[in-house]
Amino acid sequence: MATLKIDGRDVPFEPGDTIIRAAWRQGIEIPHYCWHPGLSVAANCRMCLVEITSGRRMDMPVLRWDDAKKDYVPDVKPKLQPACQMTATEGMEVSTHSADVKEAQRSVQELLLLNHPVDCPICDQAGECKLQDYWLDHEPHLKRKKTEPVHKPKGVRFGPTIVYDAERCIVCTRCIRVCDELVGDHALDLRERSNQAEIVLAPGRELDHRYTLMTEHVCPVGALTSRDFRFKARVWFLRAVDGVCAGCATGCSTHVDFDPRLDRVFRLRPRDNLAVNKFWMCDDGMMTYKEVHEDRTYLAFRGRGAERTEVTIGEALHHAADALRDAEEGKVGVVLSAKHSSEDNFVLARLAREVLRTDKLYLAALPDWEGDEILRSNDHNPNRRGAEMAAGGELESIQDLIQDVMGGEVSAVLALGWVSDETVEELEALAKLDTVVSLTSNEGPLPAVASIVIPVASWAEHNGTFVNQKGMAQQFRRAIPAPGRIKPAWETLAALARLLGKRLDFDKLSDVRSALPSGEVARPRPQAGEATV
Ligand code: SF4
Ligand code: SF4
Ligand code: FES
Repeated sequence: MATLKIDGRDVPFEPGDTIIRAAWRQGIEIPHYCWHPGLSVAANCRMCLVEITSGRRMDMPVLRWDDAKKDYVPDVKPKLQPACQMTATEGMEVSTHSADVKEAQRSVQELLLLNHPVDCPICDQAGECKLQDYWLDHEPHLKRKKTEPVHKPKGVRFGPTIVYDAERCIVCTRCIRVCDELVGDHALDLRERSNQAEIVLAPGRELDHRYTLMTEHVCPVGALTSRDFRFKARVWFLRAVDGVCAGCATGCSTHVDFDPRLDRVFRLRPRDNLAVNKFWMCDDGMMTYKEVHEDRTYLAFRGRGAERTEVTIGEALHHAADALRDAEEGKVGVVLSAKHSSEDNFVLARLAREVLRTDKLYLAALPDWEGDEILRSNDHNPNRRGAEMAAGGELESIQDLIQDVMGGEVSAVLALGWVSDETVEELEALAKLDTVVSLTSNEGPLPAVASIVIPVASWAEHNGTFVNQKGMAQQFRRAIPAPGRIKPAWETLAALARLLGKRLDFDKLSDVRSALPSGEVARPRPQAGEATV
């Protein structure tokens, strides 16, 4: 593979790579604002200037201050090149730290901050702002400009999800390019020049496509903020674990940002994964973090309607075991969940076949939603494939279950998850059965018709696996602990099996994982790219 040298280090590159991309692939960060690995090159911020020290030196004329003459005198200095635009060539030698480069970085920083408001204490980007980071790295001096800064619109509503602050904007145009190049929707544009420049909505438009939060995500400063996240948390209090979006069957890789002091998830961000979502997520996917806390089931219940009473999880498990033990053999319908992990579904399928001795397996899933050619799958469920793999084949629908209940072939139900294509009214046939055991993390149609409800961990509260529509198995990690004594469904089901008189040999997650039918594991590549946004 061809190589170039960056600060004396050999860096391989692929044909067509720019210097910055070659560096990024190796985890070397060359300071930059406007460049983004998933967008075209704009080369407008000049923060990425580097000195090419190999080959014939290109000089540019400058005026340099002469202290003896007390005047500017003509001089030359090396012509620096934007690393985001300059193509890497074999044997090229690049310095990102020479005195001229450092001077250029300082000057760019100073220029960008000339009119920048001192908003950091109230800015949501504080703590993850490139202006702050690079100021500390390259220009830790007080401002020399003493005149009033240029004032521009603040708090401009760009649409249902995004607010714009023109004073904070460094006009890198990443947000425009996300709209143009990722979505193909020219919702944003640029007006005026120089220190009057600002981002504006295209005439008659709102920023209202399905990837609006990506404009905020790529904004390197606090000019675009998410109406959902702004003023909710300080990013230095948040921690992140690797997650997989539960929004649809694409299975975008995510960072799950949570506050460990509150055990609360605050947002999802895309995690670079060239095999799945590249650098992006859709708005709906980014909002799926809300289901971790909204309509959460915290307590176990027994009975229905006015008779429903709270019990402990242990008591609920005993009641469930008694009820399922009394059920007619071969007539228990077991419902897997396209929203739960493969581990949960696998243990449920084993319990169905080996303990309850039934082959009547069904799948609870959300109906299709509107997919697109960018990321979104038509399948609104993150783990239909994983549930089918766990069961060893295609599963019958909830409609089939209703038919079987009405036909007398199913007289008791054990169901995982809360979602269903059907409404509570349509599940009325289930509500008439004596035994419907629901293992759920949230309220929904299935728990609503259950005779016994047992809370289990959500995707943010346990380690698990989703298999996406391409058959890629991706593991996600626990962000926060499940409330109280709530356990992951696979652990709860293993306990239920023991109460029913059978050990399933699943004491640890690794026991389940080693028995799990595996798909192709999507490996995030390259990790180094995460330093870019
Ligand atoms: S709003 Fe953010 S992403 Fe858009 S041009 Fe300004 S600084 Fe760049
Ligand atoms: S495309 Fe699907 S998996 Fe990706 S962010 Fe959107 S909902 Fe989540
Ligand atoms: S000019 Fe290269 S990153 Fe902006």
